[in-house]
Amino acid sequence: MISARLSQNAALIEEALKTYLSDEDVDFAEELEAERYSIFARAKRIRPTLVLEFCRLFGGRDEAALPFACAVEMVHTYSLIHDDLPCMDDDDLRRGRPTCHKVYGEATALLAGDGLLTRAFGTLASNTAVPAESVRAAVAALARAAGSFGMIGGQVIDLAGEKKKLSLDTLKKLHAHKTGAMITVSAELGCLAAGLDADDPRTVAACRFAEGIGLAFQIVDDVLDVTADVALLGKPIGSDAENEKTTFLTYYTPDEALALAGALTERAKEALADIPNTQLLQALADYLVSRKH
Ligand code: IPE
Ligand code: IPE
Ligand code: MG
Ligand code: MG
Ligand code: MG
Repeated sequence: MISARLSQNAALIEEALKTYLSDEDVDFAEELEAERYSIFARAKRIRPTLVLEFCRLFGGRDEAALPFACAVEMVHTYSLIHDDLPCMDDDDLRRGRPTCHKVYGEATALLAGDGLLTRAFGTLASNTAVPAESVRAAVAALARAAGSFGMIGGQVIDLAGEKKKLSLDTLKKLHAHKTGAMITVSAELGCLAAGLDADDPRTVAACRFAEGIGLAFQIVDDVLDVTADVALLGKPIGSDAENEKTTFLTYYTPDEALALAGALTERAKEALADIPNTQLLQALADYLVSRKH
């Protein structure tokens, strides 16, 4: 069952994250606490799971994947802390609890995000279970995916789409950047952890799969912002409408958007057609498109 596998992976990832985030200093204890508050909350751990599963698929060890997996989750969590700030989406609930800035104040939340982002690159560099060349490739890949030509660029377009309607093409670009890039790099880091090169055809196929499920993931996120149960979702309903965002629901009904996400998922799965033993990843893709949180 895919949900049992996800829980097992989440437990492994959280155990590793605890070792990376166990440092203390009395003079900046609150900032460290804010990092831990945001990362050790109810989260799906989809991105680090992709790192682990692609590494396993291609014969790599969990020990090689875990530092990369934790780094991705650190960047993702930082992006959520900043995404919730009043100058961004101004949301009060995240991962089932008050947002970081609601508990620790805006300055500490900003710094906790910065702390996690910086820590992520140190965590990549700490991976001694793979050759130095794979670490170098991982640093370059994560920097690109998290930066202006990835998640940050997507966030910029997202903010530009408040109160101004974006074209459908721009909206696809927004989703591919703000969410697709971090999901795609997760697959790529899993391949690198298994010892594949970035241009190995198997890495290329993994990235094509992840691009498809990444776009579908954000389309489903847009739908859940309207249709989900707040307790299950763990974040506010109606945030996009309140901020007058352009989302897939600007163009489609929820059912049409879900059908589109389903079609993208089917196409994404085809990218893995020539690779043996991908049943688990195929099931993960199906799970993500039918998720309720
Ligand atoms: C939320 O990501 C932000 C998006 C890019 C849609 P997730 O839905 O993976 O959130 P967590 O990590 O489970 O909290
Ligand atoms: C994802 O977009 C933003 C990030 C890159 C963190 P959203 O703004 O839709 O994410 P949620 O819905 O707040 O999780
Ligand atoms: Mg946002
Ligand atoms: Mg948001
Ligand atoms: Mg959203």
